[in-house]
Amino acid sequence: MRAITAFSAGVALWLCAAGTGVSSGTLNVLCATDEAWCEAMKSAFETRSGIAVTMVRKSTGEILDQIRAQNAEPSVDVWWGGTGDSHLQAVSEGLLAAYQSPNEADVLPWAQNFFAMSGGYSAGIYAGALGFAYNSDLLRQHKKPAPTCWKDLISEAYRHQIKIANPNSSGTAYTALATLVQLFGEDEAFRYLTQLNRNVSEYTSSGSAPVKAAARGATLIGISFLHDAVTQKEAGFPLVIVAPCEGTGYEIGAVSIVRGAQHPKEARVFVDFALSPEGQATGAAAGQNQVPSNAKAHLPVAAPDISMIKMVDYDFATYGSPNERSRLLKRFDSEILASR
Ligand code: F6P
Repeated sequence: MRAITAFSAGVALWLCAAGTGVSSGTLNVLCATDEAWCEAMKSAFETRSGIAVTMVRKSTGEILDQIRAQNAEPSVDVWWGGTGDSHLQAVSEGLLAAYQSPNEADVLPWAQNFFAMSGGYSAGIYAGALGFAYNSDLLRQHKKPAPTCWKDLISEAYRHQIKIANPNSSGTAYTALATLVQLFGEDEAFRYLTQLNRNVSEYTSSGSAPVKAAARGATLIGISFLHDAVTQKEAGFPLVIVAPCEGTGYEIGAVSIVRGAQHPKEARVFVDFALSPEGQATGAAAGQNQVPSNAKAHLPVAAPDISMIKMVDYDFATYGSPNERSRLLKRFDSEILASR
């Protein structure tokens, strides 16, 4: 608490320094975190800065599509949250504005690397590992084996019992696609996805929808980020959370300012807040469980310990590049979605 109070004085200083204590307009933010966090962030930021915010939740790929479509005349100022490889793709497409927040000095090495990789256009705000979760009541009722590995999920035992998002709209599902390619090699990953497809009852548009459905017994298994499964489990749902035995991938969630933003000063104040311990604490306050990037921010109590999870050496540069992303998505559409 004392750390936050001391920091608040600092926040007031940088708000004044930015000269934006009073807003000249409404800041338009597209948010790719959970709805609950979008709302908590909007309200905390408005209270702290006096800047009014319009905050709309969309999935990562949908935000990238919107920013790309509005390139000539952007209505969006800030893209907050969502998987970092899509922010990197936006950098490559020239859709973002460079900004180095003073709070960048306090971020952990993985976020420093991400900022450097983006060329100074996008900042890492949180991290989280991919995996899956199953409903233990349903598993028991239907006498199914407990899955522990990616390869278990293609068993006939789980016919139409799995949900995962569509990688075209969802950063979570794109992370899953890129993770499987890095774990198994591309052709083997697509053979796996073809088999998994038989067990998938629905490709959702949002990445956390699968574990939310598993939590409520609407499906047996959901593939999502582990922190989203933890949030459901913490809410009392009967979920068993699995970090797959072969290893898994992870995301660095990011924040970026859109090139040509109509409120660039306010956008910079927002990024500063998103990188501050106070801004990052809004995640835990909204029941979210990602690992915050600021070294001075508190880790949510239930956050998965990602240092204990077997992780692929995720290649953000390759899988965040426009050519690779579009090529993999095209292959997914033609080999997996088209066959449904
Ligand atoms: O629900 C939060 C979250 O998992 C974030 O950690 C992540 O960046 C985002 O959702 C991805 O959402 P989507 O898969 O819908 O793009």
